[in-house]
Amino acid sequence: MRVRPLERADLPAATAILAAACAFDRAAVVADEKLFGRGPVGDPRAWGAWEGEALVGVAAICARYLRVLAVMPAARARGVGSALLATCETAAREAGEPRLRALDQPGNYLAPGIDVGNHEVITWLEKRDWVRDGEPRANLWIAVRDNPRVTKARAEALAEAVREQGYDVRRARVDETALVDAVAKEFGGAWPFELAAALQDPVGVHVALHEGAYCAFAAHDGNNRGLGWFGPTGTWPAHRGKGLGEALLLACLVDVAEHHERCEVAWIGPRPFYEKAAGLVEDRAFVAMIKRFT
Ligand SMILES: CC(C)(COP(=O)(O)OP(=O)(O)OC[C@H]1O[C@@H](n2cnc3c(N)ncnc32)[C@H](O)[C@@H]1OP(=O)(O)O)[C@@H](O)C(=O)NCCC(=O)NCCS
Repeated sequence: MRVRPLERADLPAATAILAAACAFDRAAVVADEKLFGRGPVGDPRAWGAWEGEALVGVAAICARYLRVLAVMPAARARGVGSALLATCETAAREAGEPRLRALDQPGNYLAPGIDVGNHEVITWLEKRDWVRDGEPRANLWIAVRDNPRVTKARAEALAEAVREQGYDVRRARVDETALVDAVAKEFGGAWPFELAAALQDPVGVHVALHEGAYCAFAAHDGNNRGLGWFGPTGTWPAHRGKGLGEALLLACLVDVAEHHERCEVAWIGPRPFYEKAAGLVEDRAFVAMIKRFT
């Protein structure tokens, strides 16, 4: 078995591995984004493991985050995963990173940690000196079709209700950089990065303004583009409690319904907000995991 850097020409074979190996995440749909897409702090590094001519495993890191690690089921239990993980750990350590975290890079992440049901991977990582870090994170699923709370009519009614309070509510424009700047100033972190990705055509961002100033935004398909993944969303503090978050969430859910039956709301904040606005069909929980080098 040989481990060497993965090239774009390997993407079809790598995608097939993610489809076969990752039972908990829709990794294959976003293979290009996870293996080769930029993160908020630079480009990723991806490797493949070959047995003869066959690609049997892939892994990628971006800065101090393990983006993805997967081995073809038929090629497991002969050291492929260990070799790929060791390559990732060595590269991160040599780049001066004090630790690696599993999956949860804000801005470009497959999931906010390892799915709690993925016992095999959690145990496998623990045997390799990875430890759990902090509280589990949650994603939610919302039904966006055949859901009386998620309809175009309700989205329009909620938008109308905030317009009556003097807000301008609309879809953001392609590359609306003033919005990215405003979100960077108010919220910071990885949100501007994710938002900029959602502002590509077709734009998955809705905004509310008051007298020309941004007051709220909601985005989908910035991270994990193509999965109908919701977030980030934020309302400026002075404008909270007026229905802006719900109106913009509904606008996004109606968009997502064009391509998906359910919308995954990632790494959630206030769960009751989503429960009230659109109802929930399922929860997902994730274990944050970390490997310290020092
Ligand atoms: C986790 C995963 C990458 C491990 O891949 P793998 O190639 O089977 O890993 P290894 O072969 O190195 O290790 C598996 C076991 O086989 C053992 N093994 C390694 N070489 C061996 C050999 N030559 N003969 C027999 N057993 C061997 C290892 O010791 C290990 O057992 P342990 O965990 O009890 O120590 C793989 O299970 C996987 O792809 N899982 C799903 C992907 C996923 O969900 N990823 C997370 C989201 S990206």
